[in-house]
Amino acid sequence: MKVAYLLGGFVVALLLLAAAGYVGVVAGLVPANADGKPSKLERWAAKTSLRATIKRATAGISNPYPPDDEALSDGLKLYAANCAVCHGAADGEPSKLAKGFYVRAPLLAKDGVEDNPVSESFWKIKHGIRFTGMPSFGATLSDKELWEIAGFLERMDKLSPALDAEWKRVPSAAAK
Ligand code: HEC
Repeated sequence: MKVAYLLGGFVVALLLLAAAGYVGVVAGLVPANADGKPSKLERWAAKTSLRATIKRATAGISNPYPPDDEALSDGLKLYAANCAVCHGAADGEPSKLAKGFYVRAPLLAKDGVEDNPVSESFWKIKHGIRFTGMPSFGATLSDKELWEIAGFLERMDKLSPALDAEWKRVPSAAAK
């Protein structure tokens, strides 16, 4: 009998919580603006889940396309065309678009991902990052192109002099 009461109480508490959540959503109490900063809880939940997803999805995966100068040059061009608008060019300055994101887009020339496993960047570029402005490119770029971009991100700070010069020629995305 006692167990039945306990269970009943638990179910009522759950229903109340769900009702409070629903009221919060329809009353517009869940922040919907982008010109604020994500809360600690929001950041923790998003980052922890992303880390666990990537760990599971990239186990044992490595770059099948060696990042030689040809692949890096292709990756650089793809980055300039598809990513610099949000992640900046070699000067690491933000565009107007980049300045307005709720979850900030890292300026990769300054705040790079050279230390992340290349498979992690590949996964992020292919699938995007939910609840942020990071799009998924899996439907629009081939796996070869995605690996070339990921390889470029991994070596952005140690390019050959010729490629480095090519990188510095990519027009700045900075806000004018
Ligand atoms: C419309 C803007 C936008 C475009 C275009 C975009 N990104 Fe992103 N990207 C973001 C945002 C915003 C984040 C931050 C997400 C987060 O903090 O979880 C992000 C995160 C990332 C990260 C994770 C950085 C880290 O510190 O772990 C990588 C890597 C990345 N993007 C690569 C790319 C590449 C490569 C391209 C082009 C193929 C690209 N992005 C295009 C907005 C964009």
